[in-house]
Amino acid sequence: MADMDGIKTNNHEGIDPSKNFHTEVAPGKTNYHIKGMDNMSWGMKDRMSRIFNPKSGNALILAVDHGYISGATKGLERLDILLPELQEDIDVVMATRGAIRTCLPPMFNKPIALRCSAGSTVLSEDVTSETIGVDIEDVIRMNASAMAVQTFLGTKDEKETITNLCRTIDAGIKYGIPTLAVVAVGKQMARSPQFFSLATRVLAELGAQIVKTYYCEDFEKVTSGCPVPIVVAGGKQLPPKEALTLAYRAISEGARGVDMGRNIFQAEDPKAMAKAVAKVIHEKYTDNEAYEFYLDTKVK
Ligand code: R5P
Repeated sequence: MADMDGIKTNNHEGIDPSKNFHTEVAPGKTNYHIKGMDNMSWGMKDRMSRIFNPKSGNALILAVDHGYISGATKGLERLDILLPELQEDIDVVMATRGAIRTCLPPMFNKPIALRCSAGSTVLSEDVTSETIGVDIEDVIRMNASAMAVQTFLGTKDEKETITNLCRTIDAGIKYGIPTLAVVAVGKQMARSPQFFSLATRVLAELGAQIVKTYYCEDFEKVTSGCPVPIVVAGGKQLPPKEALTLAYRAISEGARGVDMGRNIFQAEDPKAMAKAVAKVIHEKYTDNEAYEFYLDTKVK
């Protein structure tokens, strides 16, 4: 017979008087820490909390998905060696399913932002034409915490890439999986504050739960006008101090994290760089403090 001590209620006239319902305390609020998520499902919020640290509210996403366009990108030749080295310093890995299945042991146990759009390579004239590259069933099978889809607004492929995004958001809402919409910039496209302000707002209005964009002037206005968290792409490799300044300015002006690739994995010491970026993201380090930390930490 099952042990029912402390579970089974004796027959009382009313509710068992020994139970404590704390009637003097107002019902608890969840105090959810991520903007724009109040009306999302519990599963969606759970996944978003795996990405955005509940304490700092921010995320360090390591972007290593470049291979889906560029092949063996400099610094990413051996993901099976790089990723375990950076495991403790980052919050999320953004990668393709092929890279994850072949190079990331399942015990890695960090949230995955799965690259779900595909369609062009550096061999093409331009890389703006994409399709949805992963079925939602495989996203679930891989236990992804977010799906990343690229959009090329203002190009001939605008509608196609917006359609990819909308179909991905629909599938994600069905299963509680956030979509990270990437504001991509084609060769001819201007990187102006007007463009980033418009693009980030459009993608949030289409239903993306996270928007990735580039840092620009007036960035505070870009983040203020976007009702969901923005993460900033690193872009091409900069001197380490400049990359840390980029992260610092982005966070100071309302970004909730970075989705940084080359400035970490192409750094002279990727591990020290990831640690220094994490100090800015989670511990309110200034760029100068983080750079000092980088110099002290990197392998001499
Ligand atoms: C964009 O298409 C790539 O997939 C990267 O995820 C993104 O550009 C971020 O990496 P990086 O900091 O190297 O620009």
